[in-house]
Amino acid sequence: MVTLQAVQAHNGALRSRATGLVAVFVGGTSGIALSTALAFTRHTTAPRIYLIGRSRSAADTAIASMKNINPSSQPFFLQSDISLLKNVDKACAEIAAREQKVNLLFMTPGVMTMKGRQETAEGLDRKFVLHYYARMRFIYNLLPLLREAARQRALSDGTRLSRVVSVFDPMVSIRAGGSGTLDFSDLSLKKTFSLQRCGAHASLMGNFLLECLAHLQPQTSFTHTYPSGVATGILREVPAGRFLSALMTPILKPFMVPLEESGERHLYAATSPRYPPKIEGMTPKEDACLGSDGTKGSGCYWVSWDGEEFPVNKKMEITRQQDAAERVLQHTEEVFNQICEQGKTYP
Ligand SMILES: NC(=O)c1ccc[n+]([C@@H]2O[C@H](COP(=O)([O-])OP(=O)(O)OC[C@H]3O[C@@H](n4cnc5c(N)ncnc54)[C@H](OP(=O)(O)O)[C@@H]3O)[C@@H](O)[C@H]2O)c1
Repeated sequence: MVTLQAVQAHNGALRSRATGLVAVFVGGTSGIALSTALAFTRHTTAPRIYLIGRSRSAADTAIASMKNINPSSQPFFLQSDISLLKNVDKACAEIAAREQKVNLLFMTPGVMTMKGRQETAEGLDRKFVLHYYARMRFIYNLLPLLREAARQRALSDGTRLSRVVSVFDPMVSIRAGGSGTLDFSDLSLKKTFSLQRCGAHASLMGNFLLECLAHLQPQTSFTHTYPSGVATGILREVPAGRFLSALMTPILKPFMVPLEESGERHLYAATSPRYPPKIEGMTPKEDACLGSDGTKGSGCYWVSWDGEEFPVNKKMEITRQQDAAERVLQHTEEVFNQICEQGKTYP
């Protein structure tokens, strides 16, 4: 376990080392992304910060806090419903028009819902888009800016910083006896949707695509984290969710990660040399975390709330051996091509 003390020591040292970083927080109006954005504001100098979400009032409050915490910060809000990929493209175009680099792309958008498949105008399920397709589209669109960040020295000691962090749960597909498999005949779950399958596909497809991208763009590191239980607004769409949350939070509190700690821990995950990009000499390899393919410092990390990598899992290894990464990459690019380039619905 990476102790909270170690996390705080690392983060506390960033302020004197990190100036003018650019970070994009997708889902940054609430919960873990907001808490991480506040930690980022607290611990860096003159950062430029983009919050992406739908709620303007939540963003206004967040921006006021950021300016208060760090007057040198420049926070911006991009209001967007990113359950449509065309809106993801618009948000990314706006960022690209204003910035030459992105040091950190941090993503948490998602909903907890009891509803079944909710098809968007683009033909995909809304929850699946938020947990997978929209996140991957942000990465694809912002790869050139992440690449540019990797070319520049970000910290005063010469360290470069080009990171992608996606917060969901790399292990959803094997929890509670899950099979850890993908249905390659229906990756988008058009015909075989269930909430359980949606969680498993979004998690596994994210795992393997991040791994693929770590090979394709070795200057950037890609991390998928599990935050553990954190008291946020995640239950807002569940019937009586606010009531349940108020009821359960005091009972579960001893087992949960406090929201501010989660933000500090995620800032650590986003900046620590434990999670280096594949080619970077940021850290001696022996200090690097074990990558998702079992290689130290591989550039792709599946990490638990406490900063430790998940051990290699046999069920997921079997899925990997079915060329999961290549097939997920091909499927995802087909979806992007059909929806974003050709303006059609999928499939
Ligand atoms: N909290 C936990 O205990 C826990 C445990 C395990 C896994 N996770 C996973 O961790 C991630 C983050 O969770 P969290 O607790 O931080 O969630 P949260 O507080 O509910 O934040 C989710 C964010 O997603 C944004 N969002 C939702 N729908 C959107 C849409 N259509 N367009 C744009 N933005 C949208 C929301 O912003 P707007 O409302 O402004 O649109 C909000 O900022 C989720 O993927 C969740 O499944 C959480």
